[in-house]
Amino acid sequence: MTASRPKLFVKSYGCQMNVYDADRMADALAPDGYVAADGVDDADVIVLNTCHIREKASEKVYSELGRIRKMKAETGRSPVVAVAGCVAQAEGAEILRRAPVVDLVVGPQSYQRLPELLREAKAGGRPVDTEFAVEDKFERLAAPTPKAIRGRGVTAFVTVQEGCDKFCTFCVVPYTRGAEASRPVSQIVAETERLVAAGVREVTLLGQNVDAYHGEGPDGRDWSLARLLYELAEIPGLARLRYTTSHPRDMADDLIAAHRDLGKLMPYLHLPVQSGSDRILAAMNRKHTAADYLRLVERIRAARPDLALSGDFIVGFPGETDADFEATLAIAREAAYASAFTFKYSPRPGTPAADRAGQVDEGLKTERLLRLQALITEQQAAFARSLVGRRIDVLLDRPGRHPGQIAGRSPYLQPVQLVGPGAEAGDVIEAVVTDVGPNSLFAAPAGDARGSSARLAETAI
Ligand code: 5AD
Ligand code: SF4
Repeated sequence: MTASRPKLFVKSYGCQMNVYDADRMADALAPDGYVAADGVDDADVIVLNTCHIREKASEKVYSELGRIRKMKAETGRSPVVAVAGCVAQAEGAEILRRAPVVDLVVGPQSYQRLPELLREAKAGGRPVDTEFAVEDKFERLAAPTPKAIRGRGVTAFVTVQEGCDKFCTFCVVPYTRGAEASRPVSQIVAETERLVAAGVREVTLLGQNVDAYHGEGPDGRDWSLARLLYELAEIPGLARLRYTTSHPRDMADDLIAAHRDLGKLMPYLHLPVQSGSDRILAAMNRKHTAADYLRLVERIRAARPDLALSGDFIVGFPGETDADFEATLAIAREAAYASAFTFKYSPRPGTPAADRAGQVDEGLKTERLLRLQALITEQQAAFARSLVGRRIDVLLDRPGRHPGQIAGRSPYLQPVQLVGPGAEAGDVIEAVVTDVGPNSLFAAPAGDARGSSARLAETAI
């Protein structure tokens, strides 16, 4: 039976919203019999779920389309090729002109229409749908089956908010994902309950500006992200909650209090600052200063002392001087990150900063990026080392690298390798950190004398 069912392959680039959307595309096509393909080579439908945030990300779609064109010529196969995501939204029909191999272009607001768009494409049309949804897009998305959820593991994303009204001068998101829209509380609760019933233990609430969430509550009023978190924390069986990505200006008092009150809310916060220079922050239209950010971090840490802070930085924004960059290094040192993402400024067509004077030389951008990355890597390692000997809860999610090991995640999102706890994926177990690897922690179940063998197993095999 299965052999004759059409196979779908979605290749996602960029942010976690795309990972979530890829699952929604699979859910939308499941009623038409689609099952997952192993890759491009055995797929009947290939969807490239693209990212437009930086030039490099954007160009990846065209290299992949080149490879698909070659594969089609060499094998004689003719899968339907669709371009989805933010490049689809930004470039629309231009993609069809630039890449004749593409049969269909669909923006993030139209995935619920995928089944009919695919039928149109198979009939020889080359449909383009980049309309911004006027109706409730969230309401019309298909729900996954329990089997599909189980296949995706014990952690899941749930989109609660989409779009952005902030208009940072470097960013395409307000143009590709549209205006801020929040999903009603009842839908989020229902989706989370469905996930938990099928075995999910950890849910990450997603939004481009998630702390600006203000969705309709069951009482007809707007609920804040904090209120939503308190509500979700009541769901039995749900062990962990996270949310990402936040803007410093929307970290409301009630959200900070939620970090103090909710044991299920993990002590980890992704709070991008982008730059440590007030002049650059103003030019970026961030609407806060470096001191505002540091004060905010201090308040959040007062509420949740073990909080691990993560962030994003852009180096080489137009007009950035050596002194501005030194201020970025200074704020990174002061805020003491547990991890951070660092990017070279990439001019995006249509955004205000793209045409500004004072574009920074590429070589200088690289130099600054490397210096900042070195600092962040050192901070990340120092944070990991600070955990050695401490007890942490580990959510087990997959078999370990070696026999007798099982792997999971710390509250701070680090991968953890554990030795023989006799537990299975989905369990949260208390463990003591015994050692630190380049990208993961080693741990032993709390009270287990075999602790130190975790690292030995790593080197012995
Ligand atoms: N160039 C470089 N980095 C960018 N980001 C967003 N737009 C750009 C750009 N034009 C980074 C920001 C943001 C993250 C998702 O991507 O740091 O927080
Ligand atoms: Fe882009 Fe985030 Fe700024 Fe919105 S707040 S414009 S998504 S960087």
